[in-house]
Amino acid sequence: MIIIPKVRGFICVTAHPEGCAAHVQAQIRYIQSLGRLQNGPKNALIIGASTGYGLASRVATAFGAGTSTVGVFYESPPEGGKTASAGFYNTAAFTRAARERGLYAKNLNGDAFSEEMKHRAVALIKNDLGTVDLVIYSLASPRRTNPRTGTTHKSCLKPVGAAYSSRTLDTGKKIVTDITIEPASQTEIADTVAVMGGEDWLWWIEALESGGVLAPGTRTLAYSYIGPEITFPIYRNGTIGRAKEHLEQTAHQINARLEPLGGGAFVSVNKALVTQASSAIPVVPLYISILYKVMKVKGLHEGCIEQMARLFYDRLYTGGATPVDGERRIRLDDWEMRDDVQAAVADIWPRISTENLDNVSDFAGYQKEFLRLFGFGLEDVDYEIESDPLKISGREAVI
Ligand code: NAI
Repeated sequence: MIIIPKVRGFICVTAHPEGCAAHVQAQIRYIQSLGRLQNGPKNALIIGASTGYGLASRVATAFGAGTSTVGVFYESPPEGGKTASAGFYNTAAFTRAARERGLYAKNLNGDAFSEEMKHRAVALIKNDLGTVDLVIYSLASPRRTNPRTGTTHKSCLKPVGAAYSSRTLDTGKKIVTDITIEPASQTEIADTVAVMGGEDWLWWIEALESGGVLAPGTRTLAYSYIGPEITFPIYRNGTIGRAKEHLEQTAHQINARLEPLGGGAFVSVNKALVTQASSAIPVVPLYISILYKVMKVKGLHEGCIEQMARLFYDRLYTGGATPVDGERRIRLDDWEMRDDVQAAVADIWPRISTENLDNVSDFAGYQKEFLRLFGFGLEDVDYEIESDPLKISGREAVI
């Protein structure tokens, strides 16, 4: 069948197998162009490995340092006339490419929040690799069932304390509108922290530690975001920001366990980028469209793979100490937060409208990036050719 994008709100419900493979290949080529990552990890567990920052972390370590990787994610296989989710196709392509290079790559597809998934990961690592020396925690999920209480928590993206009014972008209709979001209740705040905070990260580390599969000197990382004042009410000071604060506190807790063994836990504050997770946040897509414009003009634009390359090549595996801020966070948002970048964004922000969207922002770039997440708009793919969503080489590896 000919597969075309079917966008519903902030999600695309179709994905293109060859397009997703081309997207992964482009990331692999970028990493290969950088040469070998010296002193990189030997064996890595990547939780949230199929899209966005987690996939880029996996590509950067595997193709930069020859790292053996176990990827955990939650993706749907193709069924009947329905395509698989993009992360499923991405992983099939990644695994195929890694194995062609002689690299170890195995996958666990299921709920990372469950005890069962943690046990499966420990057993797989023990059996195949012995230990891991890098654990990346890159989950973005709207809900989490806590396996110890059985309660399902739903996260929300709301301000805390007071209602928030802002301009926002309806990416489907391409219009700039105003929205007012009512503040979250205490329960909604707690639920969001339960989903996107650090509890599950800690439980992963505990499971790996008690399973005896953490190598001495293991490093673990989770990803956070801060952003500029214009998005503070919905992001850093909102429900998701509370969860990120919890995640950052958890890094200190985990670090206290790993540091005596020569390792460490870090939070890396990354740049705002178009991913499936960020496109669901109100206001943020408008900010990203403006940011892309400003950073491209200044020659500072990066995608997930460029960010993850800087993380591993310039910060984590330099052979020296990892540079961190006053709160022990790695800052990959340094270019986004540069004074000149933020001054340019702040200048555009109050005057953006539906009419001037294409001139003062890079909405075209935003949309292009969004479609690429689902394998559409890749230069080297012929979208006129029939594609079989069910027949993907490497499918059996995405278990
Ligand atoms: P994404 O939506 O591209 O990736 C999410 C990953 O989590 C996928 O691999 C998905 O399969 C996996 N996942 C979700 N629920 C799962 C479950 N129950 N079990 C197993 N796997 C599950 O998201 P993105 O943007 O790469 O986010 C990753 C992290 O980076 C998040 O913590 C996010 O807050 C953070 N971050 C994102 C930024 C952005 O602008 N996109 C900026 C800074 C940090």
